[in-house]
Amino acid sequence: MSAVAVERAAVAHPDPRGTPGTGTPGTAPGDGGGPVVTLHEVSRVFPGGVAALRDVHLDVHRGELLAIVGPSGSGKSTMLNVIGTLDRPTSGRVLVDDFLVDDLDDRELSALRASRIGFVFQQFHLAAGVPALDNVADGLLYRGVGRRERRRRAAEALDRVGLGHRLTHRPHELSGGEKQRVAIARAVVGDPPLLLADEPTGALDTAAGAGVMDVLRDLHTVGTTVVIITHDRELAASLPRQVAMRDGEIVADGTLAPGGAGTVLAGAGGAGGAGGALGAPSTTTDEEASC
Ligand SMILES: Nc1ncnc2c1ncn2[C@@H]1O[C@H](COP(=O)(O)OP(=O)(O)OP(=O)(O)O)[C@@H](O)[C@H]1O
Ligand SMILES: [Mg+2]
Repeated sequence: MSAVAVERAAVAHPDPRGTPGTGTPGTAPGDGGGPVVTLHEVSRVFPGGVAALRDVHLDVHRGELLAIVGPSGSGKSTMLNVIGTLDRPTSGRVLVDDFLVDDLDDRELSALRASRIGFVFQQFHLAAGVPALDNVADGLLYRGVGRRERRRRAAEALDRVGLGHRLTHRPHELSGGEKQRVAIARAVVGDPPLLLADEPTGALDTAAGAGVMDVLRDLHTVGTTVVIITHDRELAASLPRQVAMRDGEIVADGTLAPGGAGTVLAGAGGAGGAGGALGAPSTTTDEEASC
């Protein structure tokens, strides 16, 4: 980020607790101490007039593990894409790891993504015909790391997700759960502080989904901030915080009460009707639980 951009970020930073990161998004870590993600009055209106996000405020603090829930079309993926800088808001401010995204050009945004954000999607998005090791190593392509080192780190990342014995397997030789663990290894091979997952268990059976969740929880345990979109109420209720969306707005934001006594949901934005949907873990199936 240029000196001018840093200065503007300092002026525009909406959170008085933090100061913006310095250096370029591709190198120095954000060290301002603010939330790892801040959305401030963020709206996203698509061409044709669909308001997918309406005046959204959200802080995600370092080291959190949270679920984003809500009915189909409520704006969950749009919000995750905006957080991940894959999409720009129509209005409002987005800070990621203390960088004010609005001020970054496309090259700087790519650097921010490459160094700070890992993505996992429902459909894995692995390169067909490419061994797991290289699929993961490619996650470091834009980090200026040599091929040998990329592959060494990829082997380590695959080991971390329990796939040290599948390095040479190609996607069609892997189960769904294994494919998703390869995708997670690729997302975290560069040690990003933030991992964004859009329905990571949505295409998996219960056992494979539980294995993927174990991997995500392990990453959270070692300090990664993890944001998970899910339709699975039981899964969402098992996480320390749930953010509920409806019609492009955050309608509830809950955290486990101290001591884990249950889920306390605070209405957000005044329409906290989704609160009751996120009480104690239920026994409904994934299909029944789909919001
Ligand atoms: N590129 C686009 N162009 C126009 N409208 C879009 C676009 N992407 C999303 N939308 C609309 O924005 C709204 C929010 O979509 P989004 O994908 O964020 O929902 P979601 O909560 O992730 O839903 P789901 O649970 O089905 O994945 C929807 O009404 C959708 O039709
Ligand atoms: Mg979606």
